[in-house]
Amino acid sequence: MDDLKAKYLTQIADAGDESALEAIRLAAVGKKGEVALKMRELGRMTPEERQVAGPALNALKDEINSALAAKKAALADAALDERLRSEWLDVTLPTRHRPAGTIHPISQVSEEVTAIFAEMGFSVAEGPRIDTDWYNFDALNIPGHHPARAEMDTFYMHRAEGDNRPPHVLRTHTSPVQIRSMEKTGAPTRIICPGGVYRADYDQTHTPMFHQVEGLAIDKDISMANLKWVLEEFVKSYFEVDGVDLRFRASHFPFTEPSAEVDIRCSWEGGTLKVGEGDDWLEILGSGMVHPKVLQAGGIDPEEWQGFAFGMGIDRIAMLKYGVPDLRAFFDSDLRWLRHYGFAALDVPTLHGGLSR
Ligand code: PHE
Repeated sequence: MDDLKAKYLTQIADAGDESALEAIRLAAVGKKGEVALKMRELGRMTPEERQVAGPALNALKDEINSALAAKKAALADAALDERLRSEWLDVTLPTRHRPAGTIHPISQVSEEVTAIFAEMGFSVAEGPRIDTDWYNFDALNIPGHHPARAEMDTFYMHRAEGDNRPPHVLRTHTSPVQIRSMEKTGAPTRIICPGGVYRADYDQTHTPMFHQVEGLAIDKDISMANLKWVLEEFVKSYFEVDGVDLRFRASHFPFTEPSAEVDIRCSWEGGTLKVGEGDDWLEILGSGMVHPKVLQAGGIDPEEWQGFAFGMGIDRIAMLKYGVPDLRAFFDSDLRWLRHYGFAALDVPTLHGGLSR
């Protein structure tokens, strides 16, 4: 029995895989294995001999079985270790640097603008691109005869004869969203609205569809000073510079009073734009204090509330920041252009993580 034990324990220790182990199990403790054969011999023994041999055989069987189980577990562990070694993956490696698709600069800039204003407590509002001429014009203090209405090169929706619904237009600016969000949330409010707008115009700096971002802040104690600070913070963050010079130029919009166009100090030295230095000025947006009639149209009492609003061209500030020379290229869907000017899909712009890195 000692020989049997020594033989099988050695074989088990040397077994290289599970099938070798199974062969040993069958030969040792299987139904027709060596231990079973020995057990059959018990019948031919005297009762005294059997009392010694029986328990000893059972103990041998138990010992072989537990050696088999231990070896089986050890083999499984080794197999797992081997698999972990061969399937090892460095998850800290950078992602593929050229994914198939890129984020369009206009989407990128919309995200950047949203990230900056979100940090200042503005939420994003949206409105329809096809809107009534009331929202697009009348509610914004641009009545039917007003010259601005003609200047906007408006696309009117076709109306069938007998259609009594109010006339619809492709919105010519994002300002109608001012009215819609006043109606929806009342005062106080702080929103921006990035989105597409339409005007019948086409040359190197105009396309019939382009993008604006509207800003609106309404509260009890809002002035042009708040507007100026917010815009300064925005321009610094957006152009990723430490300081900017803003110039407010008196202007006129029917929906703001007073109104100002805003220029930023810049230089074009060597053909590249640098914001925050130089002797040139660059117009980037229109703004002003919301006209009382506009507050009224949005259901807000102008005796109690004031606000500022601004409207900025997204395509324009994208061209400025990323050096895009021709606006029309934004909408050509030229793959080479998109690869060159597009952004990595996984780099979400945030103020702390970097806007455009
Ligand atoms: N809606 C104006 C435009 O399209 C911009 C603007 C918005 C001006 C809000 C003042 C206030 O030119």
